[in-house]
Amino acid sequence: MKPSILMCPPEYFGVRYSINPWMEGQIGRVDSALALRQWIDFYRALKQQADIHLIDPQPHVPDLVFTANAGLILDGHFISSRFKHEERRREEPLFNQWFETRSARSTRLPKNLFFEGAGDALQQPGRNLLWAGYGFRTDRETHQFLAEQLGLEVVSLHLIHPRFYHLDTCLCPLPDDQIMYYPAAFDAASLKLIETRIQPENRIVVSEEDAVHFACNAVLMNRVLFLNHASPKLIQLLEHKGYTPAIQPVSEFLKAGGANKCLTLPLS
Ligand code: ARG
Repeated sequence: MKPSILMCPPEYFGVRYSINPWMEGQIGRVDSALALRQWIDFYRALKQQADIHLIDPQPHVPDLVFTANAGLILDGHFISSRFKHEERRREEPLFNQWFETRSARSTRLPKNLFFEGAGDALQQPGRNLLWAGYGFRTDRETHQFLAEQLGLEVVSLHLIHPRFYHLDTCLCPLPDDQIMYYPAAFDAASLKLIETRIQPENRIVVSEEDAVHFACNAVLMNRVLFLNHASPKLIQLLEHKGYTPAIQPVSEFLKAGGANKCLTLPLS
């Protein structure tokens, strides 16, 4: 069966406010025609591997394209997000409504807690393990809630680098107990937690140059890894591990602090 993902066409995408370091100085600077072209190219490439569902674009919510932040959905159970920034809170009813009619079970987050969905919660393929980020957008207190709701071991990782404010900007779980990650985004205790669970030969360490081009923000579909950028060295490393890197540039979305993975939400 093909995997299912949720995307949102970038009709109203743009940088209209600044809530992360990437957005600073970028207000009004997105080339909308180029953004649309990049999004469509990415959509078409993914469509060969996945069933893509779309949420209707809406005005006044320019970050709605980053569907990874809608919530977390595992085995048909949707856990809604609560955004840290007021600017994105307007997206919550839109995402919640979409999921209410389409998911087997839908759970709201306890009041007064922040959680930014699959941007900060990534399952290790084939394992009962959820990596969960905190420090910028998601409250650590939500992790226990996720563990109880989903029956998974949740490993809390402290993000310390403002440019890597969501876990999916600096860590990408891969099959066969592998991960690709940017160590400088985590504190020492979190690196230990990663290292005790993932063997050294299974860790693909990304350089700063690759990390700032959002290489970790990758989407894996049947051994094809879609990513905005990868250096020759990273490409070689990924190929050596049996992946086919597919460069899918999304420079216009980087201006808002997101890339390929942020533009998708796995539904299955
Ligand atoms: N401008 C958006 C924000 O700051 C970008 C979200 C990127 N999403 C992600 N999953 N990393 O919230």
